Amino acid sequence: MKKRLFSGIQPTGLLHIGNYFGAIKNWIKLQEEYSGLFCIVDYHAITISYEPKKMPQRILDLAGDYLACGLDPKKSIIFVQSAVAEHTELAWILSTITSLGDLKRMTQFKEKSKQNTENVNAGLFNYPVLMAADILLYKAQVVPVGDDQRQHVELTREIARCFNKKFGETFPSPKSLLTKGSRLMSLTDPTKKMSKSYGPESYIALSDSKETIYRKLSTAMTDPARKRKTDPGTPEKCNLYTLHQLVSDKKDLDYVVEGCTQAKIGCLECKKLLAENIFKELKPIQERRKKLKEKEIKKTLLEGAKRAKEIASQTMREVKKNMGLS
Ligand code: TYM
Repeated sequence: MKKRLFSGIQPTGLLHIGNYFGAIKNWIKLQEEYSGLFCIVDYHAITISYEPKKMPQRILDLAGDYLACGLDPKKSIIFVQSAVAEHTELAWILSTITSLGDLKRMTQFKEKSKQNTENVNAGLFNYPVLMAADILLYKAQVVPVGDDQRQHVELTREIARCFNKKFGETFPSPKSLLTKGSRLMSLTDPTKKMSKSYGPESYIALSDSKETIYRKLSTAMTDPARKRKTDPGTPEKCNLYTLHQLVSDKKDLDYVVEGCTQAKIGCLECKKLLAENIFKELKPIQERRKKLKEKEIKKTLLEGAKRAKEIASQTMREVKKNMGLS
């Protein structure tokens, strides 16, 4: 039997290339080898302020993006978290064996509570427990995510260990799978992670046109030591070289490294080539996205939820039995 894989993204607006290179691109490859569940985690998204009227469209948009990127409903289960009530049921149970100290140590909670000072709610604090429930409900062994989620997967392992010790062997120990692009940095401030929170100029959206990509890159920060076109640069210290390594072939990489280190090309030339290569990767996704019908997306989500629920309810029966619950 194939090993099981679980991953998810919050429906909080446009996807960026951090989400793509950090997670989704890897999902597409892994869905061949694993039995995959790919979730739209709407219960996670409501831990920050949002507009209820916009949520249904955001969910559909994200599901459409999953399909356009190449997730195949024939191979994988694609569904919305809130359509399978067992996620919150297991989250409650797991919260009773999760240490408060562990939750207080979560980097993302610390960051998010600083960014949302007006709404630091208990859900934001318990967020990693719900994530653990997502993963353990399907007994997933692998979790392909970006670097910022690694700590949450480690906590999930700890929670699984604790549950198994108290109530008998129930859950496998999941591990995160990271890619070369597991931590893309902001275009406007390369000391920070690429994220929607720093505004649209700081990231490249999957839906950006070639012109928009080039415009965003043309003002993006490069190797801080390179001040003029005639100064040689250090590609390893340049945020944009990291992106080149994800999208450019050997010929283009050699051209950029030689041109930059010997001051034969300026940053703008390098950025232009980068914009072209990023767009080459995004163009087929954008084309597939345009062709998708809402009806088709909704059908995929309904079927996905049904299949997910079958596995989830089986796990919950086992969990409750092991815990002496009804
Ligand atoms: P979310 O929605 O913040 O991000 C979705 C995925 O994109 C990755 N990512 C990045 N990768 C590289 N560079 C970046 N700058 C970057 N920014 C985001 C994230 O690491 C993630 O893989 N808690 C999760 C969603 C979730 C989940 C789960 C994931 C809920 N339950 C169970 C896996 C398993 C989150 O908020 O991701």
